[in-house]
Amino acid sequence: MAVLVTGGAGYIGSHAVAALLEKGEEVVVVDNLQQGHRAALLGGVLYEGDLRDEELLDRVFRENKIDSVIHFAANSLVGESMKLPGKYYHNNVYGTLCLLEAMNRADVKRIVFSSTAATYGEPEQVPIRETDRTEPTNAYGETKLAMEKMIRWFEVAHEFRFVSLRYFNAAGAHESGRIGEDHSPETHLVPLVLQAALGKRPHISVFGEDYPTEDGSCVRDYIHVSDLADAHILAVERLRRGEGSAVYNLGNGFGFSVKQVIDIARRVTGREIPVVMEDRRAGDPAVLVASSEKARTELGWNPRRSDLENIIGSAWKWHLDRPEGYND
Ligand code: UFG
Repeated sequence: MAVLVTGGAGYIGSHAVAALLEKGEEVVVVDNLQQGHRAALLGGVLYEGDLRDEELLDRVFRENKIDSVIHFAANSLVGESMKLPGKYYHNNVYGTLCLLEAMNRADVKRIVFSSTAATYGEPEQVPIRETDRTEPTNAYGETKLAMEKMIRWFEVAHEFRFVSLRYFNAAGAHESGRIGEDHSPETHLVPLVLQAALGKRPHISVFGEDYPTEDGSCVRDYIHVSDLADAHILAVERLRRGEGSAVYNLGNGFGFSVKQVIDIARRVTGREIPVVMEDRRAGDPAVLVASSEKARTELGWNPRRSDLENIIGSAWKWHLDRPEGYND
């Protein structure tokens, strides 16, 4: 039986595809390649197209024996979502509706969903637990929460089973060096810091140094993308065992400030990284750190690559080998 991975050519999706292939799974990918890269697929069958194309989805389910779906395909830039919320509702929420309807028609009812810490908004406590209040502060997080809720109603009405994985800050690259992070435009801290180390950018901007944190810059929980990928495999296995639906945070449980990330990157790369202080970026909570106890105990998830030096080291290797990314 095959696993359908939507958005499998994207950053996190491509690492999940690699992990599935390493496990000997058959993989089918649907990706419109708007953000994904054909070269990021290390195997599997690619259907180039959009989730909102119902005929395409019916064909994918007809032509393959799919037993589970991992759903990554979505727009995921917080800043853009504040300017273009309609784009996020259309692609993320309506796209997910089309996927769920197609799954229901094909009688495929297991789904692992790529969710986010942005569903929580400003945390009520740190570390954040799955039972904490979900009040997104941006349209991106709001659409992801709406998608989670939609899947729950498909559970009630159509006996779907789901695992929602709420990621904190994904970073790093595959140990083979063949796949890594390549967004256009790039907005994430770790790749931007490394582009500054490469001299591709004149400096890295630190957005805000007046947060109520030790050094005044924002604190985040960085998790290696291949550790995230592992959690998806465990989630598929959980669903195949017939266990119930669940929501899990995925982070490493330790927070690092923006300034700490830059210092570690200086150490790992041995390069100068010029810094410019700037105003806060709209919508950024001061501290986001996960409690991933539930994923560890219930899924048996054991993130083993998420020491920050290791994360940045793997990303640095990718940036050195592929300074222009996939170049496609
Ligand atoms: N930052 C800078 N300078 C930059 C870029 C980022 O100081 O040039 C700061 C941000 O203000 C933030 C931290 O670095 O404090 C991390 O920023 P990222 O953009 O790398 O990541 P976010 O924490 O904003 O977002 C990530 C994911 C989102 C997800 C969110 C959940 O990219 O998809 O985590 O909290 F919604």
